Amino acid sequence: MLSVQDLESGYGRARVLFGVSLQVDPGRLVCVMGRTGVGKTTLLNTVMGVLPATAGSVTFEGRDITRLKPHERVRLGMAYVPQGHDTFPQLSVLGNLLVTLEAAKGPKEALDEALEIFPRLKPLLKRPAGFLSGGRQQQLAIARALVTRPRLLILDAPTEGIQPSIVIEIEEAIDRLHASGLSVLLVEQYLDLALRLADRFAILDAGQVVRAGTAEELRGGEVSRLLAV
Ligand SMILES: Nc1ncnc2c1ncn2[C@@H]1O[C@H](COP(=O)(O)OP(=O)(O)OP(=O)(O)O)[C@@H](O)[C@H]1O
Ligand SMILES: [Mg+2]
Repeated sequence: MLSVQDLESGYGRARVLFGVSLQVDPGRLVCVMGRTGVGKTTLLNTVMGVLPATAGSVTFEGRDITRLKPHERVRLGMAYVPQGHDTFPQLSVLGNLLVTLEAAKGPKEALDEALEIFPRLKPLLKRPAGFLSGGRQQQLAIARALVTRPRLLILDAPTEGIQPSIVIEIEEAIDRLHASGLSVLLVEQYLDLALRLADRFAILDAGQVVRAGTAEELRGGEVSRLLAV
């Protein structure tokens, strides 16, 4: 589904990723973990084409997409929810969803499906997104990504800084999406939550994958040490 090979990127002359390889098989949920500043967001931005790759390749469903623009990747079936809650604060919740639906030229049913994943947004449809709590805005940001009916959903720290009751809702939503067959590439800082959700893990340190495997393979002291602040 998604294959990242020897990927390198960075900002100007500062290189951040030093040859990252990872794979998301169809229907799998892969979690990228690592301390702050190791390059998780940089990796997702490069996978999505927000940042150019300076070396290596990204392949989606067998097609080399390394040079495609972000919106072209969205059209192919990838959706990205960046770190923080990315919404249009002045637009209503419904307006936020409609903007994406129109850009994706999707059917109205796609909007209903996204709201089924986050039913708590339904009573808030007329509310300006900027008036919602951080947790509800994060749900809206994920719902917007779902409106494009992706086959791969990329989430950057969707539970970061969010109140526990809504973290539970977001975890349940990701679990349901995964169970329905959606492939997911997730950056998540809470190890317990990641262990409950993910099929496989990749642990980044200083711009490289230092460990990868299943939950069983990754339990133990070494992983805690790699994630400790
Ligand atoms: N826009 C930017 N310009 C220059 N350097 C940047 C930029 N964004 C990030 N960096 C640097 O790149 C490195 C990796 O940052 P990145 O945001 O990918 O880390 P991260 O693993 O996502 O961290 P966090 O867990 O805090 O989200 C850091 O050293 C950071 O300071
Ligand atoms: Mg980050």
